[in-house]
Amino acid sequence: MKIKIRPENKNDYKVISMINDMAFGQEAEGILVEKLRRNKKYSKDLSLVACMGNEIVGHILFFPVEIKADDNTFEALALAPMSVIPELQGLGIGSQLLENGLAKAKKLGHKSVIVLGHPEFYSKFGFTPASKFKITCPFEVTDDVFMALELEKDSLKSVSGCVAYPKEYKDL
Ligand SMILES: CC(C)(COP(=O)(O)OP(=O)(O)OC[C@H]1O[C@@H](n2cnc3c(N)ncnc32)[C@H](O)[C@@H]1OP(=O)(O)O)[C@@H](O)C(=O)NCCC(=O)NCCS
Repeated sequence: MKIKIRPENKNDYKVISMINDMAFGQEAEGILVEKLRRNKKYSKDLSLVACMGNEIVGHILFFPVEIKADDNTFEALALAPMSVIPELQGLGIGSQLLENGLAKAKKLGHKSVIVLGHPEFYSKFGFTPASKFKITCPFEVTDDVFMALELEKDSLKSVSGCVAYPKEYKDL
């Protein structure tokens, strides 16, 4: 599947919401992206679109979060949401978006990524249950779906605490 991956620009906003709506079958994730764009921590370099020709067919977003222990705070990225249009799912677009996004995040100096999602998919890219790193989720979820990935070796070795998501995610 030949696709090109690039950061979003203003002309993409509507299509990104539509792709999220279609992939998730609801509007909440598209609205989440719109709300996060108004947060000063938002970076368009971490909101990537997958294009086939001129058409956007997928989207991935990373957003900074903190992992908070009693006496310490660590920075990480949350991966969410991520979407590929239904007709083109299962063809490798999501995998390319994720690989490209993780490489970009690493290049920008980010050291770790947290995700809440399909374990079968994310484990292929090295994500493991976050509990392995003593990182907990503020929402009630099963152990296997809340995962973490070190972009830099041992970056989560001495990290412990609960992930503090920005308020926009809590409305999801
Ligand atoms: C998840 C998603 C982004 C993956 O993109 P994609 O282009 O379909 O992914 P790829 O073709 O590269 O890889 C397919 C893999 O995705 C995983 N996957 C896709 N949909 C899944 C689902 N509903 N449940 C569990 N795993 C799923 C599987 O591991 C699948 O591997 P397989 O084909 O060997 O079964 C896409 O399917 C999607 O938009 N789904 C709906 C929205 C969503 O669930 N987003 C992620 C929230 S964590």
